[in-house]
Amino acid sequence: MKNQIYYGDNLDVLRNHLASDSVDLCYIDPPFNSKRNYNQIYNNIGTEDKAQSQAFIDTWTWDSMAEHGLREIIANKNGVLSAQSIKLMIGLEQILGKGSLLAYLVSMTLRIAEIRRVLKPTGSFYLHCDPTASHYLKLVCDGVFCSSGGDFRNEIIWCYSTGGRAKEFYPKKHDVIFWYIKSKNYLFNYDAIALERDTTTMHEPILHDDEGRSYQRNIKNGKEYKYYLDKGVLPNDWWIDIQAINPSAKERLGYPTQKPEALLERIIKACSNEGDVVLDAYCGCGTTIAVAHRLGRKWIGIDITYQSISLILKRLEHSFIKDFTDNVVDKNIANLLEQLEINGVPKDMDSAIALANKQDDRTRKEFEKWLVLSYSNNRATIDEKKGGDAGIDGIAFLDDVDSDNKHTVKQVLFSVKSNKTLSPSVIRDLYGTVERENAAVGILLTLYPMENLVKESKKYGEVKLANNFYSKIQVVCVEEMLNGERLQLPNVIDVLKKAEQKAIQMSIL
Ligand SMILES: C[S@@+](CC[C@H](N)C(=O)[O-])C[C@H]1O[C@@H](n2cnc3c(N)ncnc32)[C@H](O)[C@@H]1O
Repeated sequence: MKNQIYYGDNLDVLRNHLASDSVDLCYIDPPFNSKRNYNQIYNNIGTEDKAQSQAFIDTWTWDSMAEHGLREIIANKNGVLSAQSIKLMIGLEQILGKGSLLAYLVSMTLRIAEIRRVLKPTGSFYLHCDPTASHYLKLVCDGVFCSSGGDFRNEIIWCYSTGGRAKEFYPKKHDVIFWYIKSKNYLFNYDAIALERDTTTMHEPILHDDEGRSYQRNIKNGKEYKYYLDKGVLPNDWWIDIQAINPSAKERLGYPTQKPEALLERIIKACSNEGDVVLDAYCGCGTTIAVAHRLGRKWIGIDITYQSISLILKRLEHSFIKDFTDNVVDKNIANLLEQLEINGVPKDMDSAIALANKQDDRTRKEFEKWLVLSYSNNRATIDEKKGGDAGIDGIAFLDDVDSDNKHTVKQVLFSVKSNKTLSPSVIRDLYGTVERENAAVGILLTLYPMENLVKESKKYGEVKLANNFYSKIQVVCVEEMLNGERLQLPNVIDVLKKAEQKAIQMSIL
């Protein structure tokens, strides 16, 4: 099996693409019903404000989708739900009423039931959440797993102290991670995650047996217990030894809810072996899959936003050429891409048109994001703030070097249009914005070919960048992008880590 990335709603992907009993371990870190939308804060450069764009939406309302979901649970058409899960939802509807919390729990129930289906009988499920909804989510998981031969194993409390501190109540500084198993015949690798035994807590001397193994002993009720030092101890169900990602963390990508690799490393080592299949159905910036890859597991990642998909591709590219972590598995990005299948990303005009016309309350401007990020080889940032003001959907930065070796960071602005026809005034407007923003180049990305605009764009001449000449205003259509055309400008800066380092070197941050 190749590693898989799916761009789409995980419910569709689980239902239509993942076989029953095929996954060894599933970890998910879904939106927590936090009632706010997370913004990805890019490590932006050259601008006074941090460009923000909506990474994903975590507000829930009782709408037609929630109503449809509840009907689906009650009808149990696919037969994946237990009687207990169905009764639980009927009961919760009476207690909570049809509001945002029920909408969230309906969405989670449908997906967790599908996840149980795709797990192998020996498989494990980890659900990462926080106290906002953990008490309800445990009911949902009990309904899905415990009534169908599975069981609850642990509630792990992951403690951290990063972030702001409340003054009106105890600062909320822990997340909750539930661990469920599909059957009692589950995998748990004690030795892979055991910690070194702390010999100071028992107040007993270290002894050696006939084979030279060191141990401490304890005598309880006349019986001797030996604790071998080479065996190690399991971490407790509260984890304080794993730090949250802080602003200066090496692995930080700027994704708002990024989890530390060490957390995933413990979970993946505990409940999977090399070659096993690890699934993350809400994979965000790809922490689970990056760690699974490094540990020699096969993996499947699903996310509904193109920004995540773009970030994951970039993360894989960087991680395995030793940029973000010191753990190099595979220096050859070509090998990595060969082992990878990317699904759900438009590959032809029909699917591009479908994405442009897609209506989805949970995501915004997915067509624009896909086009800007793909055309720029994932180098642009998505700027919704600027976009709101001036029709700009993305920005890239380039490091211009003149003949005297003087460096200047310059902006490239992207604007996306999916209209069937456009008048040349669009080009004039883009040129106006490029001039006003003091940008080097403006690029109009269109769904349909626009000969009239290509002609109009020629009127705006060329600009000299890194001692070569490029069109000031460029027009590219989706078909050209699908045929492999990509951003042709010199020294485009990667807006992940590298850009930050470069900008610091150039003292422009
Ligand atoms: C909390 S983040 C995950 C962060 C991740 N653990 C990491 O370390 O980067 C949740 C992710 O779930 C995605 N998401 C939300 N609803 C989804 C759905 N129905 N299908 C697939 N992905 C979804 C969001 O786009 C977001 O990237």
